[in-house]
Amino acid sequence: MPRSESIPRMHKVFLFGLFNKLVFLATAMSLAAFLSFGALSQADPVGHERQSSYALMSPDTKAMQDDPLLNPATFAVLDGQVLWQEVAGKKNQSCASCHGDATVSMKGVAASFPKVNAAGQLLSLTGQINQCRTERQGTTPFAFESKPLLALSAFVANQSKGMPITVERTPANEAALVSGQRLFNQRMGQLNLSCAQCHAERSGQKLAGNPIPQAHPTAYPIYRLEWQAVGSLERRLRNCLVGVRAEPYAFGSAELLELELFLAWRARAMPLESPGVRP
Ligand code: HEC
Ligand code: HEC
Repeated sequence: MPRSESIPRMHKVFLFGLFNKLVFLATAMSLAAFLSFGALSQADPVGHERQSSYALMSPDTKAMQDDPLLNPATFAVLDGQVLWQEVAGKKNQSCASCHGDATVSMKGVAASFPKVNAAGQLLSLTGQINQCRTERQGTTPFAFESKPLLALSAFVANQSKGMPITVERTPANEAALVSGQRLFNQRMGQLNLSCAQCHAERSGQKLAGNPIPQAHPTAYPIYRLEWQAVGSLERRLRNCLVGVRAEPYAFGSAELLELELFLAWRARAMPLESPGVRP
């Protein structure tokens, strides 16, 4: 009887998600209260001992990421592989028509994003894919967080698995990088907390019994157990903004892009794990 089984399961998932959010909020509030007292001294861990959130995960979750047969994001990668060959748009071109074999042409590419293009525009990997859709294929962009956009970005990112992030500070990205750093250090939301207060000063400490990671974007797009779905780094960042009771920046906004750029630069030289699994 699949119907009577599926209802309690959905409730369980919903309640689990709700519980997590409440716990996040309650602990974040006590953290906010705590932080508004004493001075903060711990330095940003960048420069020494940077660590992927992978290191903080349970053996089961690690195994899920490591084994493509267990990793639910493998479906997205396989969908992306099919889409890569699919002809679309007025120009009758597939990604492969121009880029050929992705295992060759896309090797290391995801590790270099976000990136400023020749026109001076800062693009995330998904922004670049959509620009190829509109300008090169002559068709409509994929919606943010849509299945095909996540699938193509998982497929392209997977070609850089194990390769180091190559985002460096350049004259072209300097201004956006500085803005991203400013946003990372700026207190926000009703809880009046900055990203840095959790992810630099408190990383490794516990929030609701879970360790606070350093927030290196090494595994995107991810399959997140709490979402029961594949999602982007932007979706993850919006979760943290909601967590501190801030109005989340819109998908594709300059703020999210600048934060992504800053996080990638902060994680430079760390290996990509895409597609990752996160709790
Ligand atoms: C008609 C040719 C054409 C098609 C079709 C096309 N692209 Fe591109 N793509 C380009 C060109 C040219 C560039 C170089 C950057 C630019 O000027 O946009 C590029 C750049 C890229 C990059 C960044 C490469 C780098 O080294 O920074 C990615 C990723 C990418 N394309 C993905 C895709 C995907 C995914 C599709 C299919 C949805 C696609 N492209 C379809 C021509 C194409
Ligand atoms: C109250 C503390 C707190 C604040 C403030 C906060 N986060 Fe987070 N963030 C977390 C926790 C806890 C997790 C991981 C646990 C989870 O899944 O909720 C996380 C996860 C992340 C991750 C995922 C890392 C990975 O390996 O996938 C990124 C990236 C991130 N945060 C970035 C940010 C940014 C950028 C900001 C500021 C806009 C921010 N966070 C604000 C607590 C916080």
